[in-house]
Amino acid sequence: MSEKREVRTVAESALDSSTLMLPQDANPQGNVYGGTIMKLMDSIAGAVAALHARKNVVTLSVDRMIFYAPVYIGNLLIMKAAVNYVGNSSMEVGVRIEARSLQTGNIVHTGSSYLTFVALDEFGKPTQIADILPQSEDEKRRYRAASMRRAQRLVSANKPKASI
Ligand SMILES: CC(C)(COP(=O)(O)OP(=O)(O)OC[C@H]1O[C@@H](n2cnc3c(N)ncnc32)[C@H](O)[C@@H]1OP(=O)(O)O)[C@@H](O)C(=O)NCCC(=O)NCCS
Repeated sequence: MSEKREVRTVAESALDSSTLMLPQDANPQGNVYGGTIMKLMDSIAGAVAALHARKNVVTLSVDRMIFYAPVYIGNLLIMKAAVNYVGNSSMEVGVRIEARSLQTGNIVHTGSSYLTFVALDEFGKPTQIADILPQSEDEKRRYRAASMRRAQRLVSANKPKASI
């Protein structure tokens, strides 16, 4: 008989981070380099995915990333990341990115993205992970939206059967 699949809540793996942006994070314009933001985003999302899966994970994809507003040196770069949806071995993690001025305390939403991670077993093969239990209304809304994004990604990748 197969083992019962574990289930974890979104809160069990959700993470927030705050990183002070320093001169070494600057692009030639003097604002924060987009690559710095993307690296931090992949790091926090990967940590969320590994915490949910309790296994090694790799980044499979990053959805479209738009920078709505610049992040300035001296800002706190705030990231809020949580699992939106789990398939069998893969999961979508959503990241919201904000910049906070230390002078005014104002917070600006500068971007959001969805990253897909796949959990790997000791042989480097995709392996089943715990399912996710969305609890709050926001978590349930994100779950439904992520399920539709997953189906679209699989159609684009010509793997529509995997969405079932
Ligand atoms: C991630 C990786 C192991 C998946 O390999 P694969 O042969 O496609 O594996 P599978 O076909 O078993 O798919 C694994 C999962 O990924 C999903 N998947 C695979 N290709 C996908 C695609 N193009 N779009 C969306 N989902 C996809 C599958 O649906 C499956 O999810 P599920 O188990 O939740 O249904 C492989 O692509 C890889 O090693 N990529 C490199 C990852 C890496 O090194 N990242 C670091 C940054 S470069």
